[in-house]
Amino acid sequence: MTQVRDSFHSRIGFVLAAAGSAIGLGNIWGFPTNAANNGGGAFLFVYLVVTLLLALPALYAEVYIGNQSQKNPVSALGDACKNISERLGRNAGIIGLCGAIMMLSFYTIVAGWMLSHALSAITQLMGFNELSSWLGTSSTERNLVFTPIFILLGAAIIHQGVNAGIEKWSTRLMPVLLIMLFGLIVYILQQPGAMEGLKVYLVPDFSQLTNPKLIVSAMGQAFFSLSIGVGGMMIYGSYMQKDKDLGKLVISITALDTGIAFLAGLLIIPALFVAQHAGQQVFQGNQLIGEGQLIFHILPELFASMGTIGLIVAIGFFMLLSIAALTSTISSTEVPVAYLVEDKNISRHKATWLVSGTVLFFSMLLIAFFDVLFGAFIRVLTTILQPLSCLFYFIVVGWLWHRGNKLRDKALQVDRPWLKHWGNYIRFVCPILLTVVFVNVAILN
Ligand code: PHE
Repeated sequence: MTQVRDSFHSRIGFVLAAAGSAIGLGNIWGFPTNAANNGGGAFLFVYLVVTLLLALPALYAEVYIGNQSQKNPVSALGDACKNISERLGRNAGIIGLCGAIMMLSFYTIVAGWMLSHALSAITQLMGFNELSSWLGTSSTERNLVFTPIFILLGAAIIHQGVNAGIEKWSTRLMPVLLIMLFGLIVYILQQPGAMEGLKVYLVPDFSQLTNPKLIVSAMGQAFFSLSIGVGGMMIYGSYMQKDKDLGKLVISITALDTGIAFLAGLLIIPALFVAQHAGQQVFQGNQLIGEGQLIFHILPELFASMGTIGLIVAIGFFMLLSIAALTSTISSTEVPVAYLVEDKNISRHKATWLVSGTVLFFSMLLIAFFDVLFGAFIRVLTTILQPLSCLFYFIVVGWLWHRGNKLRDKALQVDRPWLKHWGNYIRFVCPILLTVVFVNVAILN
């Protein structure tokens, strides 16, 4: 290849872009909903354990492969598997790439909901009540407008490239997201009823720990939240200079992602109890009503009941979710784009349109057959594709590494004693642990 590869210009740029990929609807929407449905503090506890034992090493393995190879995931995995079968590796890369497209096809629909709810609050503030109610009510027409808008927003950033697009926008958007989140938490925690929610969230009900569904939900949530298993983190790793301290960077990304999920819980769960205090029915028994749809019903009503200030809070909240979703969207889009640019010699401009067009096609399919396809896509991705990809990464990093392939690196050699343990942990413990949980998922499904 004659072209110089585009790259992140700083380590902090990489960390913010990767954290931007990790922090998304999964943290702010998925984590609190899962926590509220699975025993509050008990879920939080199991989530932290699963993140440390499995998700963090998986993220390390994924970033590591990308960083060592400095190539897109298809070529990177192909190189890594050269000694047994390059084709096997490349195929695994292609499967990850399909996972990225799958993720985008449902993610951009939900992200479109966030955008339309933000606009709903803005238009209500401006007095356009009819438009506002259309924007705030779910409908196929609304999906047909907002999903493409969201895909276009992602394409506009990706099309600008790694440094000028991804790095620049991630460094701009991530601090805004943090400020908004803190502001909203401070506001919600002062409302009546919030303290009860805080207690449910922070005090674990350990009787829930024996529930196998809890561990499976926590693992799916942790993998999805850290964006592992579709190649997004691998491609970001490949845009960073080869780094000896990858471990530190991966720990920072995990800490940021987990921290934001924790903070989102501090916002959403108390907000649910504020809504309940205000007379809305939020729980039926232990379960949230309407599960994932909840924040689109309960929270807008809660915001509306607060008058004008509520509208401003609503704009902040849904903008926050839209921004978080956008930085996640771009990492998944970059996976197939980089593959087309590097392996198929297509220009970035054309590749961006091609990938966006494909995503648009699948998201329209999901909208057309929403009841059948939407949940199925999410389930296949999070409970099958992502864990299997992670298993593959563990095997690549733990086993194929030492066989003279190009991806040899000090980190898994024996020059630092703790690294030896880390290497063995990835070789033996992670694949076994993951297989055990995976078999459980299969049984539970
Ligand atoms: N991690 C993102 C979130 O929490 C979702 C995501 C999954 C992004 C896979 C990229 C790849 O919302």
